[in-house]
Amino acid sequence: MPAAFDLIVKNGTVVNQDGIGHADIGVTNGQIEAIGDLGHRDAGEVIDATGLHILPGVIDSQVHFREPGMEHKEDLASGSRAAVMGGVTAVFEMPNTKPLTTTADALADKIDRATGRMFCDFAFYFGATAENTADLPDAERLPGSAGIKMFMGSSTGDLLVDKTEHVRKVLASGRRRVAVHSEEEDRLIERMPLRRAGDPSSHPEWRDVEAAVLCTRRLIALARETNRRVHVLHISTGDEIPILAANKDLITSEATPHHLTLCAEDYARLGTYIQMNPPVRDASHRDRIWAGIADGTIDVLGSDHAPHTREEKDKPYPDSPSGMTGVQTLVPIMLDHVNAGRLSLERFVDLTSHGPNRIFNIARKGRIAAGYDADFTVVDLKARREITDGWIESKPGWTPYHGKTVTGWPRGTIIRGRRMMWDDEIIGEAGGAPVQFSEGWTG
Ligand code: DOR
Repeated sequence: MPAAFDLIVKNGTVVNQDGIGHADIGVTNGQIEAIGDLGHRDAGEVIDATGLHILPGVIDSQVHFREPGMEHKEDLASGSRAAVMGGVTAVFEMPNTKPLTTTADALADKIDRATGRMFCDFAFYFGATAENTADLPDAERLPGSAGIKMFMGSSTGDLLVDKTEHVRKVLASGRRRVAVHSEEEDRLIERMPLRRAGDPSSHPEWRDVEAAVLCTRRLIALARETNRRVHVLHISTGDEIPILAANKDLITSEATPHHLTLCAEDYARLGTYIQMNPPVRDASHRDRIWAGIADGTIDVLGSDHAPHTREEKDKPYPDSPSGMTGVQTLVPIMLDHVNAGRLSLERFVDLTSHGPNRIFNIARKGRIAAGYDADFTVVDLKARREITDGWIESKPGWTPYHGKTVTGWPRGTIIRGRRMMWDDEIIGEAGGAPVQFSEGWTG
C-alpha cells in the first residue's frame, strides 16, 4: 500500500511555477509532499476541488490590525477572520499600534496575543524611530519579525522618520529589506492649508503627487548610498513607476487594490470612506500603476487594510481618519480584474505569493512546491457575487466596495493543510503561527 497523506486536494486546477494545469496535491504534516495524479492514494481527508483553481496561499504583506490599543477598530482575531474569509493565508501587520511596535517586548507581546487567536499565519513589522536605530539589526531578526517599517510621512499614529540624517541611519542599521511609507513630510506640513473642510476630494491636493515623488527620489538616493534594499509601499502615482523601474536592483514596490480600482471621481460617491494615505488620485495615475503591473515594475499587492469605525469615518474631513478595510476584498476585487483581462491569473499569483516569497525571503511559503507549507487559496473564477458590508468580518463592518458585483470569489482558505474557510464559513480553529524568513528567524 502506498503511504497515506493527511490530505489530498484533488481534481483542481493548480496555478504555480509550472503554469496552469490539472493536478492533485498531497499534504503531510502541513507541508506539500507530492503534486500530480494522486487519485489512487489514501488520505485522511480528501477535498474535491473540481471546477476550482488552487493558488498558492495569498500573502498580504501590509495590514493594520490595531491591537494593542485600538481594539475598537479591529483586533488580531477579527482582522485574521477577515483575512481567511477573503482567501488570505498570511499577513504582515504594521507597527502603528498603541504602544508602537518599536521594542522587542512590544513585538513579543504581539506574538503572544496572536498565538491561539489568529486564524491566519502572521509576521509583525518593527517600527523604526529616530531613537531606536541601534536596536534595528537585532529587531529585524526576532521571531515573527517581518523586518523594519519606516514612515517618512505622517499618517495614522506617531511613527515618523523624516529627516535625512535619521533615514540614513535607519537604512545603515541592518540588512533585510526596509518597508517604507513614502510621502515628504515637509511638503505635507506646508500644504496643510489646501485641505478644504468637509471636502475629502481635497485630500489628494494636500498630499499631492510631488509629495510622493520627492520622497521616493530621496529614499532611493539614500538606499543607494547605504546599499540597502527598500520596499516602497502603496504606490499611488504613475510618476513613480519609471523611477522604480530604473532602480530594480535595490528597490521593490507594492500596489494596493484601492489604487488600482478607485479613482478621484469616487470621492463624490464615497467621501471620507476612500480617504487614505497616500491618496486615491485621478484615473491617469490608476492607469499608469496598471502599466506598472503589466510591465513587472510592481512586485507585490498589499491591501493596506486600515480599518476605522463608521463613526470615525463620518467625521467631517479633515477630522476623519485615513484608511479603509481591504484584507477581505483583495482576492475578489483582483480576480474581477483578472476576469476583465487587466492581469493574468499567473501575474496575480506572482504578485500575491511568489512576489512576497521573493522580496521578503519567506521560508516555505509562496509556491506550490514539495516541502512548502500547504497554504492554498482556492478560488472559483466563474462565481458572480456581490460584495456587501454584511459579508465583512472586520470589526467596522464596511467596505468601499459594498454593492459591487464581481466575477471570481475565494471558495476556500487552507493553511498548513488545515481548512480554515470553506464556502464563506470559517471552519478552522485559530491556529495561526509566525511566518519564518530565510534571512531572519527560521525557528
Ligand atoms: O490611510 C492610511 N491609514 N495610511 C497609512 O499609512 C496608515 C493607515 C492607518 O493605520 O490607518
